[in-house]
Amino acid sequence: QGPGKGKPMSAPFKPIQRTWENDLVLPNGYKYNIIASYGDEINSKGEKFGDSADLTLYFPIDSLKGGNNSEEGLIWVNHEFPEPANYMKMLGINEATFKKENLANYPELLKMEKESVGGSVIHVKKEKDGWKLVKNDKYNRRVDGTTPIELTGPALGSKAVNGATKVFGSLGNCSGGRTLWNTALSCEENTTYGSSYGWPNFDDTHYGWVVEVDPFDPTKPVRKHTALGRFAHENAAVGLTKDNRVVVYMGDDQKDECFYKFISKKIYNPSSREANFDILESGTLYVANMEKQKWLPIDYATNPNLQAKFKDQADVLTNARAAARIVGGTLLDRPEDVEISPRDGSVFLALTNNSKHGNFHGQIVRYFPADGDHGSESFTFEVFVAGGQQSGITCPDNLHFDKKGNLWVVEDYEATEDNVYAAYKNCGVFLIPTDGKSYGEPFQFASGPKGCEVTGPWLTADERTLFLDVQHPATWNAYPGYDFGRSCLVAVQGGSFGKYF
Ligand code: FEO
Ligand code: CA
Ligand code: CA
Ligand code: CA
Repeated sequence: QGPGKGKPMSAPFKPIQRTWENDLVLPNGYKYNIIASYGDEINSKGEKFGDSADLTLYFPIDSLKGGNNSEEGLIWVNHEFPEPANYMKMLGINEATFKKENLANYPELLKMEKESVGGSVIHVKKEKDGWKLVKNDKYNRRVDGTTPIELTGPALGSKAVNGATKVFGSLGNCSGGRTLWNTALSCEENTTYGSSYGWPNFDDTHYGWVVEVDPFDPTKPVRKHTALGRFAHENAAVGLTKDNRVVVYMGDDQKDECFYKFISKKIYNPSSREANFDILESGTLYVANMEKQKWLPIDYATNPNLQAKFKDQADVLTNARAAARIVGGTLLDRPEDVEISPRDGSVFLALTNNSKHGNFHGQIVRYFPADGDHGSESFTFEVFVAGGQQSGITCPDNLHFDKKGNLWVVEDYEATEDNVYAAYKNCGVFLIPTDGKSYGEPFQFASGPKGCEVTGPWLTADERTLFLDVQHPATWNAYPGYDFGRSCLVAVQGGSFGKYF
C-alpha cells in the first residue's frame, strides 16, 4: 500500500486519498467554515487577527464554572511568524531592493510584522451556518510583538537576560497547551526570528520561553516563565504527578535537540484557580536520557558540571540547550508536539524528521512513565508509528487526543513533484487509534491547501467540532486584491469525531 491509501477498516468516515487539490479537503459529509483570517478586525480598537495561525486552545465559555459548553467559548490562537514578502506587496515596497538591515527605515513594514505575531483571544459561537467570531466582544484582544510581558522565575532580572524584568512582545509562537486552571500556554519556538527579520534592538534572551495568558482576564499581565527553560519551545502538555504537582512536557523543535519536562514545586489546587497562577514560577526542569530511560534534573545547585560551566540557575535556564547536553540529554530528531493519552497517561512525542541523519519521515514515540507517575524519574518507550511508506504518514507535527484516546496527527513538510515528499502531496490530518485492532494505523481525515501545513487540531468536549488552523497557504483564501493566501482558523463539522474505534 502506498502513502495515504485508505486502510480497509470501517472508520466512521471514509478516509480520503492524498491529493494536490488546493483546498481543505474533507471526507464526504464533512464541511469547514473559516472563522477568522489574517487581517480580519477582531475588536473596536481595530486590532486584527494575526498571521501564520498555529495552536488552537478552546476554552468553553463556562469553563471557569467547570462547564463544558461546546457551542460557545474563547479561543487562543498562536500567530507564529510574519510574512514580510506579503506585507511588502501590500505596502508597495520593492522586495528586490529591500534590505532587512534597513528595516528601521520602513516603519510601516516593521509595524505590520510586529502586529502579525504573538496570539489572539477571540470569542466564538456556533451558529446555524458555522462557527462565527463574536465581533467587538470584550474578550477579543491581541498579544503581539509589542505587548509588555513580565518575566517570572529564576531568570527574572538576572544577568543572563541582561537584567530584564519586563520584555516587549512574543514571537515564534508555535504550539502550546491548555493548563488545568484554564489559561493558555503559548510556546516561543524560534528565538532568533527577530534578528532574522532584522528587528532593531532585538535581544534574543527575551524570547524562547513559555508564555502564559489568561484568556478570561485581559487585565492580568502576560508572563514568560523562565523556570521552564529557554529553547525552541514547540509545545506544553500539562498533567499531574501522583502527588499532584504540575508536570509540563515540552519539545525543542530543532534537529538534534532534546525532550524536556518541568515539575512544579507547588501542589496543584483544584478548588482555587488563582492559587495556581504562580505554579509555573518554580520547580525542576528535566531532560530525557533515552539510553538510561531517565529524566535528568538540570539543576545548578546539585550538579558540579553545571557549576563549572554556568554562573547560576538563571544562566542554566537561559542557555538550557547547552545545560541539557552537559547533564546528558539525548539529542533527538526535532521534538515537536507532545500529548498525554487520556487512556493510560502514556506520553506521545512527535519527532518530525531529521534530514541530518537521513530521517525524512520522522516518527511518533510513546513514553510510559514508571508506575504511571509523571513525577517518576524513570520511563520506558517504544516507537508508536514510523513515518514513511508503511504507515503512510510523514513528518508528524501537532498532536491531539480525543476522549477515547485516538490520536489526531497533522503533518509538516514541503512536497514538490520531485522531492522525497512527492508521493505524499499536500500536508494532511490523520486519526490514529492507540488501542485495538487498528493500533497505529493512520486514517486520513483531511488534506490542506497547497503550500500550507495544517496546525492546531482541537476538539470541543462534545466532539462535534474539530478546529484546525491553515498556516501559510500559497494562494488559497487569498488576501482580497492580492495573489497570496491567508492563514486562518477553521471549524470542521459533519459528524461526531469521538465515536471511533
Ligand atoms: Fe513551528 Fe515546530 O513548528
Ligand atoms: Ca509551523
Ligand atoms: Ca509545529
Ligand atoms: Ca513543524
